[in-house]
Amino acid sequence: MGAISVLFFLSIPWLTAAVVPHEWTYCKNKCGNVDIPYPFGIEPQCVMDDTFGVTCNDTTNPPRPFLNSSGMELLQVSLTSGSIRVNNPVFSSNCSNMTRAAAVTLSSTNPFVLSNNSNRFIALGCDTYANLLDMAGSVLTGCLSMCGASNVSDCFGINCCQTTIPPGIRSFEANVSTIFDRNDGNRCKAAFMVEQDWFYSGTKSRDDMLRMEYVPAVLQWGTCQGRCDISKVSDFVKCSYGGYCWHQLSPSHHCICTGCNPQGNLLGLIVVFI
Ligand SMILES: *[C@@H]1O[C@H](CO)[C@@H](O)[C@H](O)[C@H]1NC(C)=O
Ligand SMILES: *[C@@H]1O[C@H](CO)[C@@H](O)[C@H](O)[C@H]1NC(C)=O
Ligand SMILES: *[C@@H]1O[C@H](CO)[C@@H](O)[C@H](O)[C@H]1NC(C)=O
Ligand SMILES: *[C@@H]1O[C@H](CO)[C@@H](O)[C@H](O)[C@H]1NC(C)=O
Ligand SMILES: *[C@@H]1O[C@H](CO)[C@@H](O)[C@H](O)[C@H]1NC(C)=O
Ligand SMILES: *[C@@H]1O[C@H](CO)[C@@H](O)[C@H](O)[C@H]1NC(C)=O
Ligand SMILES: *[C@@H]1O[C@H](CO)[C@@H](O)[C@H](O)[C@H]1NC(C)=O
Repeated sequence: MGAISVLFFLSIPWLTAAVVPHEWTYCKNKCGNVDIPYPFGIEPQCVMDDTFGVTCNDTTNPPRPFLNSSGMELLQVSLTSGSIRVNNPVFSSNCSNMTRAAAVTLSSTNPFVLSNNSNRFIALGCDTYANLLDMAGSVLTGCLSMCGASNVSDCFGINCCQTTIPPGIRSFEANVSTIFDRNDGNRCKAAFMVEQDWFYSGTKSRDDMLRMEYVPAVLQWGTCQGRCDISKVSDFVKCSYGGYCWHQLSPSHHCICTGCNPQGNLLGLIVVFI
């Protein structure tokens, strides 16, 4: 992603709440190797709203960005899909030196939800019984892996099982256990919510993943809906109350709407040039 130059803001009577960050061109738009494009930002005057705030931790080399709203490490922002890639915890059992992962808790007021299209819930190990739980302990989904010989790269139920996830998940943890107390010499088992393209890309082996504290997952923050023709005010993007939406106008520019009031009118509209 290249440098980004924002933006113009349309001053239409009912577009009231969005604020153009006038110091935008002076905003820091990189943290280590990660681009931080608007609506995300590091300085308070540079974000669309507080939920897009990022803290750049300079104590590591390279520095690493973390989302203010959840503390999750931000790996990549995609404006073309209204999503971000974050580091998501691996829940494991009987793995050496692994401490119990903390639950992921994204508050209901932040715009991020786990993408059900990009992520899968995956459990590794033989006879691994893994449940994805909400914060009340209710099971959202889960799977059980069989023991046997399998190809290291697939995940068809032998030493690895996977399932799609319900849409709209914001908070979760996983419980990793065993049904028959079988193992293949390695008692280490793990389960996680992961970006499926990364999982199958072969970037890391299964053994590597069992030792990882985090794997990448995709959070959706905007939904592509309606139209966003800046020349036709009457055809503006529709969005649900409080939601964010975006629309790709051309390969090089996007329109982002910042939410609607209870009457369904847009509060603000911003065009971002990539
Ligand atoms: C993110 O949080 C840090 C630490 O609380 C704060 O200094 C910073 O202003 C916040 N950034 C934004 C954009 O809200
Ligand atoms: C930055 O990271 C270090 C090491 O992981 C941690 O101790 C520190 O609290 C972090 N600082 C901020 C501002 O998050
Ligand atoms: C586990 O921790 C011990 C002590 O800190 C260390 O000696 C050992 O190499 C670690 N094992 C693995 C697999 O990281
Ligand atoms: C994700 O959720 C949407 C909305 O419910 C649904 O249409 C879609 O099929 C789901 N995707 C997967 C992979 O299950
Ligand atoms: C593993 O995959 C290769 C190539 O797809 C295939 O030839 C082989 O039979 C598979 N092995 C097992 C145990 O399924
Ligand atoms: C995790 O799974 C074990 C074994 O099935 C069960 O005893 C335990 O209650 C579960 N924990 C939670 C939080 O569901
Ligand atoms: C972990 O290991 C203990 C014994 O070492 C065993 O009783 C327990 O069932 C194992 N848990 C899992 C999830 O495999």
